[in-house]
Amino acid sequence: MNISIIGTGYVGLVSGVCLAYKGHRVICVDKIQSIVDSINKGIAPIYEAHLERMLIDVVNNNNLKATTDLEHAVMNTQISIIAVGTPFIGDSIDLKYVEDAAYDIGTILKNKKDYHVVCVKSTVIPTTTDTLVLKTLQQSSGKTLGDFGLVMNPEFLKEGEAVEDFLNPDRIVIGAMDEKSFEMLKNVYKDYFDAPILKVNPRTAEMIKYTSNSLLATLVSFSNEIAAISEEVGNIDALKVLEGVSLDRRITPNPEGKIIKPDITKYLKPGRGFGGSCFPKDVKSLIAFSEKQGYTPQILKSVIEVNESQTRRMIIALKSEISGIKDKTIAILGLAFKANTDDVRESPSIKLIGELLKEGGKLICYDPIAIENAKKELANNINIKFVDRYEKALERADAAIIMTDWDVILNIAFDEFKKLMKNPTIVDGCRIFDITKAESHGIRYVGIGYRE
Ligand SMILES: NC(=O)c1ccc[n+]([C@@H]2O[C@H](COP(=O)([O-])OP(=O)(O)OC[C@H]3O[C@@H](n4cnc5c(N)ncnc54)[C@H](O)[C@@H]3O)[C@@H](O)[C@H]2O)c1
Repeated sequence: MNISIIGTGYVGLVSGVCLAYKGHRVICVDKIQSIVDSINKGIAPIYEAHLERMLIDVVNNNNLKATTDLEHAVMNTQISIIAVGTPFIGDSIDLKYVEDAAYDIGTILKNKKDYHVVCVKSTVIPTTTDTLVLKTLQQSSGKTLGDFGLVMNPEFLKEGEAVEDFLNPDRIVIGAMDEKSFEMLKNVYKDYFDAPILKVNPRTAEMIKYTSNSLLATLVSFSNEIAAISEEVGNIDALKVLEGVSLDRRITPNPEGKIIKPDITKYLKPGRGFGGSCFPKDVKSLIAFSEKQGYTPQILKSVIEVNESQTRRMIIALKSEISGIKDKTIAILGLAFKANTDDVRESPSIKLIGELLKEGGKLICYDPIAIENAKKELANNINIKFVDRYEKALERADAAIIMTDWDVILNIAFDEFKKLMKNPTIVDGCRIFDITKAESHGIRYVGIGYRE
């Protein structure tokens, strides 16, 4: 099929490249000329494993090209997938980019004779597709639903594993306004992806996406609440507690003695809290939307509160280990909000850095690929330095804080911490190191969810 993708960030570009890789002909549209130029040269403007290699292939075989010309894209494709950002601004989700994209597509559809399906892939609060997007398309095109099609098709990929997730989806959710647009979208996936297709209405599709992210965020905050209680009691390791809980067969099946550890158990783990461009904004958007509907979501509000208290808890732990932060040299290991991505949006590391700077710490920050993005988030400050090797961060540091579980960080030997640091102290925000081993190497160790 011929497909246009509007917005070529993490979701749009990965979707475009993967659909082109499967044999569709894709036109990627972005407003930013430098992104378009980079894509056409086969250079991925974002980091995702395998993405650039596949991008080069699909550009070379002419299955994907990028443009700023929306009209060219809509006129030459059968489906337009909207994958623009939906940030949380002030006290609600900002749907301006989705609305603008729908408006612009509509003005082009006015002059298009062939049937065209508009697909919302951006994460949008329930009712967005069947009210705001539909109304905008009808107004700007002068046509009615049926002259064009409309579907909501949420995206579940995880940054860091985005290509793998897109190529091997767990499920494909299609919330279509009518049968014809459902069939069109089904054809995008049916012969190319091996996953169940769930047919629902648009608002159910929208709610599935929010509920998925809210569930995962809830597990993280639940784990961190258990961690906080364990810390207060002392000599309980919440990591082991949650491991013990996870081994319940209803969570971790054990057929014929073979343990199958589901991915979801990764969220049942104490740590520095969730971040990224999705969980915080999606949970906050659902809370705000729910309150507008007249219901106060108590669990979700607590999920955010617990998450926001994690930075403070880490700072308190650090302070008690190294007797204050002012003028102390602190190695920050990891800037990205999770491993295998260069994305630092809402990264717990960036939040922690901001707080440590306020307290007068001298920070040496390391990340294998997110440094450039982190520099854009953090204002120039003489007390912050970025280094391209973890050894340089650890040199003469009073403490090291683990903020992202990159392989390169979890492979650092305890001897290196011991040899390089002034005062070998680890505050482990990702719980990647073994307490007993760290302590047997003479390292002071504080992990989220564990206090002596
Ligand atoms: N990042 C994720 O892991 C992820 C996963 C699932 C769903 N989502 C959702 O997908 C949507 C996109 O997220 P993202 O992280 O890819 O965003 P992003 O900010 O990385 O990318 C958005 C892109 O859209 C472009 N854009 C904005 N308006 C445009 C327009 N009118 N025409 C053309 N281009 C336009 C921007 O220039 C930008 O390049 C959001 O709703 C997000 O919640 C994100």
